[in-house]
Amino acid sequence: MLRASFPWLRSLVRPLAPMLLGCAALLPACGPVDGSTGPGTTPGGSDPVPTMPSYGPLPSAVTDVLNLPNTPDNYANLDLPAHFRSAYVRASDNTPANNAITDAGATLGRVLFYDPLLSQNRTIACASCHAQDKGFGDPAAFSMGFAGGMTGRNAMPIIDARYYRNGRFFWDQRAATLEEQVVGPIQNAVEMGMTLPEVVTRVSAQPYYTTLFERAFGDSTVSSDRIAKALAQFARSIVSYRSRFDAGLAQTGDILPSFGNLTAQENQGKALFLGRAGCAACHLDSGPPQPGPRPNQAAFFIEIATNNGLDATVDVGDDGVGDVTGRAADKGRFKSPSLRNIAVTGPYMHDGRFATLTQVVEHYNSGVQAHPNLDGRLRVPGTTTVTPRRLGLTADEVQSIVAFLGTLTDDALAKDPKYSDPFKNPTRR
Ligand code: HEC
Ligand code: HEC
Repeated sequence: MLRASFPWLRSLVRPLAPMLLGCAALLPACGPVDGSTGPGTTPGGSDPVPTMPSYGPLPSAVTDVLNLPNTPDNYANLDLPAHFRSAYVRASDNTPANNAITDAGATLGRVLFYDPLLSQNRTIACASCHAQDKGFGDPAAFSMGFAGGMTGRNAMPIIDARYYRNGRFFWDQRAATLEEQVVGPIQNAVEMGMTLPEVVTRVSAQPYYTTLFERAFGDSTVSSDRIAKALAQFARSIVSYRSRFDAGLAQTGDILPSFGNLTAQENQGKALFLGRAGCAACHLDSGPPQPGPRPNQAAFFIEIATNNGLDATVDVGDDGVGDVTGRAADKGRFKSPSLRNIAVTGPYMHDGRFATLTQVVEHYNSGVQAHPNLDGRLRVPGTTTVTPRRLGLTADEVQSIVAFLGTLTDDALAKDPKYSDPFKNPTRR
């Protein structure tokens, strides 16, 4: 309709797109470029009024292969609740100045994320190991790569990666940025087995990518830098913020009081998580609770990689951060993924050793090992030798913490079509 009456608009929009995207990147206040306030019609009249530029219809090169809306979905301006807007959480956002999320950029990232073309024998996509309905994790302890080889660690859920304050990625934090991380699996000999030049050649040869790169970056040039940027934009757009926990917190404005929408058991679990069980001291805030509202009530991350006493010794074959830095004090230290959507991302820990959340909580209750680098928060205070803390939780208290963790699941994220496989032919994956 609009396209037919205003063919000129399309040619106008193309050259403008990069400029407008830059505007969105620098000034969130300058409004969405996703067309949500897009071309309107004068009330009662028939003439369309192009208030905001719109994207043209996608060419058949795209629509033959992909289910994508003409106007890209909204990834850049998520309707985040107030607790995501605290100074602390905003300061935790690891989005670099040169790669703000745009709707077109994250759309390209989504297609790349689901495209098995990125693996050597065209069988494995990022999504093969990072499934939407599993919190973008893998239900298997280890994941199978393109040639049947197994990964050495559990696939990490990709949830709220954007709000990891530390900004480093992988269990051992070897990637300094998300942009660096996302091209890791492509080049990993077990996972996807490609070189970056090979990927650039393959992606360039696919007609459906031409328009997607144009929309994302202003022209159709394919480069590994752009592939990394688009994948990172898509990964950062995956935010868990529509859980029952979020709804409850929006009502009270503070995490401490009981939430009206949680059961008594879940509220008890929340109190234990924040208090006696000491989970929040790592997975929410570092340091003891301060007076007043906690600065972070949204991102369930630990600020630094640490040791949570899974093993008693350093001779276990995987020393996490220690293997990267070579420092004895770093052995056995690992990053923890966000605890959001944790109920669907099992199995747990870097080696997937715990099948259930009950096992995880029981570990903290009674099973913490005296690793030489055990975090002080899991030790009996004031002891000179490493003495692991025992919580003495009853079975009911353990279950209440498990129940509370279940309130962190954002079901809307698991079902949201804009994060799903866009390919029309599912056998591609
Ligand atoms: C064969 C399975 C597999 C494939 C394919 C795969 N991953 Fe992963 N992913 C993993 C594993 C395993 C880890 C943890 C590895 C480690 O820490 O050493 C991981 C870690 C990650 C992380 C780190 C999360 C964090 O919080 O630190 C991100 C992000 C990620 N993958 C994104 C991707 C993207 C993007 C792709 C596609 C380009 C991809 N993965 C392909 C298995 C896979
Ligand atoms: C000293 C800091 C610390 C404390 C306290 C702590 N954790 Fe953890 N947690 C970690 C670290 C570090 C990891 C990742 C360890 C690994 O995989 O090697 C982790 C991992 C987890 C995981 C698995 C994450 C995943 O994606 O596999 C869950 C679930 C979890 N913790 C829940 C809890 C609960 C519940 C409590 C309170 C009973 C708690 N934690 C207390 C540091 C801590």
